[in-house]
Amino acid sequence: MADMHAGILGTGHSYPEGILTNAELERMVETSDDWITTRTGIKQRRKAAPGEYTSQFAVRAASNALERARIDPAEIDLLLCATVTPDQILPSTGCIIQAELGANKAAAMDLVAACSGFLYGLTLADTMIRTGQSRYALVIGAEILTQYVDYTDRGTCVLFGDGAGAAVLGPVDANRGILAARIRSDGRYLEQLYAPGGGTRRPPSAETIAAGDHFFKMKGNELFKVAVRSMSEISTDILDEAGLRAEDVDLFIPHQANQRITDAVAGKLNVDNDRVYSNIAMHGNTSSASIPIALDECVEAGRIKENDLVLMASFGGGVTWGGVLVRW
Ligand code: ACO
Repeated sequence: MADMHAGILGTGHSYPEGILTNAELERMVETSDDWITTRTGIKQRRKAAPGEYTSQFAVRAASNALERARIDPAEIDLLLCATVTPDQILPSTGCIIQAELGANKAAAMDLVAACSGFLYGLTLADTMIRTGQSRYALVIGAEILTQYVDYTDRGTCVLFGDGAGAAVLGPVDANRGILAARIRSDGRYLEQLYAPGGGTRRPPSAETIAAGDHFFKMKGNELFKVAVRSMSEISTDILDEAGLRAEDVDLFIPHQANQRITDAVAGKLNVDNDRVYSNIAMHGNTSSASIPIALDECVEAGRIKENDLVLMASFGGGVTWGGVLVRW
């Protein structure tokens, strides 16, 4: 199989119609449009309406990606749904999406790696395709984070939004597709971003709900430093592995967490602004959906041409981080 790579054959995305602006947040917590804009770059984020759930957006994003790839759902062997906000505990959101799409031949499952979930998925799908275990894989990142955000905590509630993105992968010539992929984690930093309640350790009860234990808790400025370090290091590592340099990168798509994190990582890598994609102003941080939404927006806008070198890097709760380098 050495003469073959896994490539991205099609992408798609979807998000709720509802928009939550900085002006609306100003009326909910003690914050300002100016603070949010200068500290994060975010102007608005999408917010699911009551009754909307994660797999709905995942199915729409996946259907777009399958259509673009011209692959029938029945041909998918592996379906990975990266999410920290599943429809329900059991079964996996992956299996729910599988049934909706009619991807009946696939092994479907969820992947919990927070904002790195999509790159974890690409990395695993790459291995499965290159080893011949799977021919076509569907990797989805889908989140409704706004249900887990405490709208009395100004340190987190301004950051997160909802949406889904997807990519279909399959075999391509060895001079294209995924050139290098790497994923890492370090559980020692788990309390930098976590939701303490709702699992077996603190089962959901009236008490845990009242205490807000199911909401995300975050040490924002500690995570900021880990984010910059981990994303720039892993990007350098995979470029080295592929025998390429930052100058060769046509487009850098980092996880969209904070414009200042993006600027710091791009600065460390020496990738100038016009080769860096940012949609943070429109979407905020959509965790595992962030990179696939950005990737599909770039495809739709014609920002990625054949043979372009695309670098993607992420970090997230866990903490987790990852990097994937693709020759388009
Ligand atoms: N509006 C106004 N003031 C605020 C707000 C707000 N929304 N949030 C915090 N502040 C205040 C703080 O209370 C603090 O006030 P003080 O100095 O009086 O104590 C001051 O602003 C500075 O707070 P910091 O936390 O030091 O601000 P910082 O510049 O670090 O920005 C932020 C905070 C935006 C959270 C930043 O640290 C960040 O983006 N960190 C990374 C977070 C992240 O990416 N998390 C997602 C991980 S991915 C995943 O897995 C989902």
